[in-house]
Amino acid sequence: MRRPQGAEPRDAAAKSRGVTFSTEDQLSAFAATFARRLRGGDVVAISGPLGSGKTTLVRAIVRALHGADQTYSPTFTFWHHYEGQPPVEHIDLFRIADRRELAELGLEEAFGGEAIVLVEWWRNASELLPARRYEIEIDGAGDSPRTVSIREPA
Ligand SMILES: Nc1ncnc2c1ncn2[C@@H]1O[C@H](COP(=O)(O)OP(=O)(O)OP(=O)(O)O)[C@@H](O)[C@H]1O
Ligand SMILES: [Mg+2]
Repeated sequence: MRRPQGAEPRDAAAKSRGVTFSTEDQLSAFAATFARRLRGGDVVAISGPLGSGKTTLVRAIVRALHGADQTYSPTFTFWHHYEGQPPVEHIDLFRIADRRELAELGLEEAFGGEAIVLVEWWRNASELLPARRYEIEIDGAGDSPRTVSIREPA
């Protein structure tokens, strides 16, 4: 397994080469470490094929930030709000058919506030996301190991 690049000097907006995890527990532990970097207002755009582990990563981040007993309230079916300091918004744009609808639902207002915003299938509405964001890409699905790459905000 390659070491995460956290200890090395990093260019702004540089993309890590990817770290490979053979189990869900390993990926979750990595997510917990990543979560420590996050501050209110940060946006994390997560991509990867169906079943690659995007939601698994989000849950591990929320657990790391808020503990195991988070309060969770579904704002919409695709949008979960986790109360806490800072609050976390988990938005899944997989089924988004109409981007105008998202604007009407106030998606843009999720950004730029005090919450950490984690977005799955973000490319379905990429123009709505702020340019300053982390991008996490997960490769692999099924029984295969997962490779996670992170692009830092510029
Ligand atoms: N190394 C691994 N890392 C993460 N998840 C793994 C790993 N190996 C197997 N899994 C399994 O892969 C599945 C990932 O599901 P998850 O819902 O997180 O994917 P997703 O990317 O959110 O999918 P979707 O695109 O449908 O939203 C889980 O069932 C998990 O147990
Ligand atoms: Mg998911």
